[in-house]
Amino acid sequence: MSVSQALDEIKIGGLGASRRRVEDDRFIRGKGNYTDDITLPGMLHLEILRSPLAHARIKSIDTSKAWDIPGVHLVLTGEMMATRNLAWMPTLSYDTQAVLATDKVRFQGQEVACVIADDPYIAKDACEAIDVEYEPLPAIVNPAQAVADGAPVIRDDKENQPDNVIYNWEVGDRAGTDRAFEQADVVSRLQLHYPRSHPSPIECCGSIADFNRATSKLTVYMTTQAPHIIRAAVALVAELPEHMIRIVSPDIGGGFGNKVPVYPGYVCSILASILLERPVKWIEDKSGNLISTGFARDIYLDGELALRKDGKILAVRMHADADHGAFFSDAQPSKFKIGLLHSTFACYDVPVAHLTARGTYSNKAPGGVAYRCSFRVTEAMFFQERMIAAAAADLGMDPAEFRRMNFVTDEQFPHRTPFGFLLDSGQYAKCLDVGLKAIGYEDFRRQQEEARKRGKLLGLGISTMTEPLGAGNSREYDILGIKMFDSAELKVHMTGKAILRTGAKTQGQGHETTWAQIVAHELGLPAEDVIVEEGDTDTAPFGMGTYASRSTPVAGAAVSMVARKIRAKARRLAAHLLEVSEEDVEWELGRFYVRSSPDRGVTIQECAMAAYSNMPDGMEPGLENTAYYDPPNLTWPFAVYLVTVEVDPETGVWDVLNIVAVDDCGVRINPMIVEGQIMGGLTEAYAMANMQFITFDAEGNCVGANYMDYLLPTAWETPGFELHSEVVTPSPHHPIGAKGVGECAAVGGPAAFVNAVIDAIAGTGVRNIDMPLLPDRVWEAITHRHDVSGAPPVRADD
Ligand code: CDP
Repeated sequence: MSVSQALDEIKIGGLGASRRRVEDDRFIRGKGNYTDDITLPGMLHLEILRSPLAHARIKSIDTSKAWDIPGVHLVLTGEMMATRNLAWMPTLSYDTQAVLATDKVRFQGQEVACVIADDPYIAKDACEAIDVEYEPLPAIVNPAQAVADGAPVIRDDKENQPDNVIYNWEVGDRAGTDRAFEQADVVSRLQLHYPRSHPSPIECCGSIADFNRATSKLTVYMTTQAPHIIRAAVALVAELPEHMIRIVSPDIGGGFGNKVPVYPGYVCSILASILLERPVKWIEDKSGNLISTGFARDIYLDGELALRKDGKILAVRMHADADHGAFFSDAQPSKFKIGLLHSTFACYDVPVAHLTARGTYSNKAPGGVAYRCSFRVTEAMFFQERMIAAAAADLGMDPAEFRRMNFVTDEQFPHRTPFGFLLDSGQYAKCLDVGLKAIGYEDFRRQQEEARKRGKLLGLGISTMTEPLGAGNSREYDILGIKMFDSAELKVHMTGKAILRTGAKTQGQGHETTWAQIVAHELGLPAEDVIVEEGDTDTAPFGMGTYASRSTPVAGAAVSMVARKIRAKARRLAAHLLEVSEEDVEWELGRFYVRSSPDRGVTIQECAMAAYSNMPDGMEPGLENTAYYDPPNLTWPFAVYLVTVEVDPETGVWDVLNIVAVDDCGVRINPMIVEGQIMGGLTEAYAMANMQFITFDAEGNCVGANYMDYLLPTAWETPGFELHSEVVTPSPHHPIGAKGVGECAAVGGPAAFVNAVIDAIAGTGVRNIDMPLLPDRVWEAITHRHDVSGAPPVRADD
């Protein structure tokens, strides 16, 4: 028997190869091509006038002085937009959102008018020359105010909207949960707030609309994570023919969910280009991005666990109050009003659970974007792991042991959660064991005891997370009625080089590198022979874009499937070249051979050449195909994060001593890229726990509208991480067993930091400090021995 001639998969850059990111060549040379890098002949510039007030009636808008400024071509107001039925646009959550305000402004920073001029400076000056007369109204900045008696109705533009409540929603078994609570030995209750946060991509949003009257074609270069959805939205809202719209997402400098929604700037630049028949560029500034584009979180929780005294969880009851801002514009593709919040407690074997949720309007920027999160799963995991930590403390149990005894066990998969999700696979206890060993759990507990005797406060926090990734399956998930699936198109040229296009859109995650690795795995073409293109709706197959870590579970699966279609055709070509029947042909990586005579074989490249030069009679020439992939289920990665801290009782400052992350995301395509994703997620988790928040004063003024207030951690502040990859549970339904990973650490990380600080100050009786755990809040909790809850208050003198 002859020895296999299969290629070495790692050498050709297949699955498991830590291949260097091919896109970095152009990025580190300064040759990236971002929206703002694009200059078109005759291009004009658009700037937006924003509201200084959070809630006010617009009495008048006088644009005459702006029109008089030389270099100004157009001044748009809501009234003018209304003549084209564009003053309002639909949101992804079936609400409406003002493009430019007509009747009222409803949050500080709302778009009121815009100017299109020869350059951005003229346009900005002209914005300042616009005179808007406002009649201020009382502002609402949280759900409690929104439902208070006599609260002003924010959305008085809507019929059948007598108050500020958007929805009341529930899921689970209310009666069964109530019964379980009656049986409980202990009920553990915790009230929490996950504060408003902002994805803060380094590149802000922007667009260049270029309408060509001669061809009737509209091309829009823009910072979108979902170009095909934007094309559909433009076709449906602006009633332009879809084949005459081309959306191009060039390089994107980070999206994190912020670049999924449709923003007024995009709409105004498109209308302005159509009216002026010139390209119109809108590039948002940092404050504009922070103050007006999709925020995330801002949910209050009242959560309870029914417990047996031996530690068994009997039931979960949760109520969430979500503050959606002025327009309900959650970017989420499910029929569930509050996204996938009910993915909470999925990794625990909970017999029964019930969740109620209420969404309300406030005078804050709209959003609810899935900021590095699969549609509210970040809040779900934070609440879960904070509740678990509090329950273990209430029971006097070790928090690791409490988790272990309640985990879904390896034998229970596929496991139906109490809220109806089906978990695909996992090894939860094993991940916990790896994490506990790595952090030196027993030793740390001893050190903690000794340190406490010397007045030193050490703490250890554990958090686990399981995230439903890969929206969706088309039975349950859609955006504006368009089913959730994704696509890949592969063209293998005659020399065996190939181009792959997908309906996803990378924003830094490295798709150009990893998708080629999947092709290498399936076909044995070296990854470097496969070029990957995304983001141009004229060339890419239709797809739903990249957010919620759905690319690998869905587009990545489509890449596998299209490569398998290519391999099936190549097999027929191989049989023809080898002059045997197809059934006699075997495959090994990179090569087909004759079963009975393994030395006789042809490479995949030889098959590619034959597809153009020597195909059998009756075979269609060429070697290309397209696959659309509708996932049968979500993939469910799992992770355990452990953090140790030291808290200074005199100042409330806390320092991270150690971070251990154990991520099981199934098969890793590119281990180096996966580690980069986890490090980025942990950095954001640390930022949320430690420093990052946007809050509002009583008048609805946004505090956190610049990077002096909204703190992003640099490499200086960010602690180091110890990452573990030894637990691999492939997804049983994904073609290569991969699960998503991009968001996991941002989702699961925050609770580990908070749990560590609360553990450090355990002797004080403090059960909760809401994020961010700023030193003054921690100090207040220690000194006054009470919880510190809610968004940090903004004092009058701040
Ligand atoms: O949707 P998004 O690209 O943001 O998230 P993802 O699907 O979790 O993928 C993030 C990056 O990690 C991509 O380059 C993936 O191909 C890579 N990845 C991987 O190498 N192995 C996995 N099991 C999951 C993701």
